[in-house]
Amino acid sequence: MSSPRYAAIMGWGMAVPRRVVTNDELAQRIDTSNEWILTRTGITQRHVAGPDEFTSVLATAAGREALERAGVAPEAVDTLIVATCTPDRPFPATASAVQRNLGIPRAGAFDLAAACSGFVYGLSVGTGLIKSGMSQTLLLVAADVFTSLIDWEDRNTCVLFGDGAGAVVLRATEQPYGLLASNIGSWGEGETMMAVDVGGTREPATPALLEQRRQYVYMHGREIFKHAVRGMCESAERAVADAGVSLDAIKLVVPHQANLRIIEAVAKRLALPMNRFFVNLDRYGNTSAASVPIALYEAVQQGRLVAGDLVLLTAFGGGLTWGSCVVRWGMSPQ
Ligand code: UT7
Repeated sequence: MSSPRYAAIMGWGMAVPRRVVTNDELAQRIDTSNEWILTRTGITQRHVAGPDEFTSVLATAAGREALERAGVAPEAVDTLIVATCTPDRPFPATASAVQRNLGIPRAGAFDLAAACSGFVYGLSVGTGLIKSGMSQTLLLVAADVFTSLIDWEDRNTCVLFGDGAGAVVLRATEQPYGLLASNIGSWGEGETMMAVDVGGTREPATPALLEQRRQYVYMHGREIFKHAVRGMCESAERAVADAGVSLDAIKLVVPHQANLRIIEAVAKRLALPMNRFFVNLDRYGNTSAASVPIALYEAVQQGRLVAGDLVLLTAFGGGLTWGSCVVRWGMSPQ
């Protein structure tokens, strides 16, 4: 390929479950309060999936909207990536169900598991496929029903998470739009800081383990907090430098929506004002891989981003994983 290829973001979509659970509702069930949740996290409510709203259902709705907005027919998609850590089933990939639901014939389809960093990992991998010439039109969906891993009696985790899906369509272009630079990182030593131990090949579920509620997520919140700030800041600084721009040139930062205090700490360390950060975790909580694309979607809907703007996406999650992407939003005028 003689001229550089880029992967412009052509369309975007999102979906959340119908049911909203407020802090007050949780406070009626467990030993917590709206005041604690709000002041420690910034969250006021979250959407929680019902039995008919499993991962592929939300992923399909977000993917369909992204394709429609892009004006891209399902037949044109040659690659489908579904970033999720809460698949419909252990096997096969959730991407296969999404592919069938959307009527995407014969595209390569696979899941990508990077927890809450799934969207920035997916955007990095997807753009790489387009830049290499392996893909022309790619649908990236990030979807999690993280509440399926939640013990609703564990106040350390159940107040934090919600469910949802976000999607983007990437298309090959010679114009310098889409992902300009990214980096993804992981620290495997931290894999036990946040995990679900039972239900995989290491410790298959047994009645005794289920009785002990070991099929649910546990988390060392305070440690993750510190690693999150460090991982997001270091990767953001590297991505910005690799893109050949300065932080000042970034119109908007769209961070993973886990905790307002984490976002404030990142803003402080990057010496950026909070009004350059998009925040919607008050209404959704932490939707895992879906968090960044849902925030990106709402930022665009609210007019906070227009074609040509530089946006910085930054995320962290279980693994521990993290990553940042510098994106030039939109497409060049035709
Ligand atoms: O996508 C990645 C997902 N993981 C994360 O984002 C985790 C990042 N970490 C965090 O967001 C914060 O560490 C938390 C929100 C999880 C916790 O906030 P914190 O300020 O670090 O609180 P803490 O864990 O130090 O707990 C402080 C107190 C404890 O009581 P004691 O030991 O001081 O008496 C907890 O038992 O708050 C108590 N507590 C609660 N109280 C009321 C913990 N959860 C609750 C709750 N309601 N829901």
